[in-house]
Amino acid sequence: MRALLITLAMATFVTGCIGGESGEPPVVGIRNMYNQPRYDTQERQPFFADQRSMRPEVAGTVSREMEASIVVATGRNASDDDWIMQVHPQYIAQHGGREAMLSRGKDRYDIYCAPCHAVSGDGKGMVSRRAAALGASGLIAPSFHDDRLRHIPDGQLFATITNGVRNMPAYAHNLPVDDRWAIVEYVRALQLSQAPAAAPENTEQSQ
Ligand code: HEC
Repeated sequence: MRALLITLAMATFVTGCIGGESGEPPVVGIRNMYNQPRYDTQERQPFFADQRSMRPEVAGTVSREMEASIVVATGRNASDDDWIMQVHPQYIAQHGGREAMLSRGKDRYDIYCAPCHAVSGDGKGMVSRRAAALGASGLIAPSFHDDRLRHIPDGQLFATITNGVRNMPAYAHNLPVDDRWAIVEYVRALQLSQAPAAAPENTEQSQ
């Protein structure tokens, strides 16, 4: 009987706490790393002159993972005044040749781009179709076979994947640099596969 009473009393005590709120700090037996000094994101940090707790890169340093060539890393030319028009042939050679790059590009494209841009690149992937059905026209991916997108420089295509554009997310964190260039090559191949037939050259002059 006494045992039963004790059990009941304990049950009441334990369940009595559930759902209740307390302003007291939680009771933790061994605190170890329970409370550690830290800064919240964007919190003020009086130690540094600029008072930022999120420290910017130290000037002149290069992280180990960073792509050494700025042209390859950004798709901009060496003087940074324009996009590079084409992936450099040397870069393609270094990555196992065009065929290897295209097959890697297709593999990555089908995973990362096709859900919106479609396997054929016409922009009618599942996400776009769903967006269209819901009337969210801003989320419909464009077709790569549009005239404008057929003519944007390789570097700009690369930067679009890297940084995203308007409603399209950025892929710099999901796709390493060489995969992004492989996708650029593959998108070019997709565009070529559906390009209008080339006009015969110099028809007026060659009589
Ligand atoms: C979640 C859906 C989604 C995915 C995945 C996606 N895109 Fe997009 N993409 C969009 C949308 C939406 C736009 C139109 C953005 C706008 O104009 O607001 C767009 C636009 C673009 C454009 C046109 C940019 C311009 O200059 O107008 C390119 C090129 C492009 N995407 C390439 C890619 C590639 C390559 C991938 C794969 C790495 C990819 N996208 C993955 C949704 C997506």
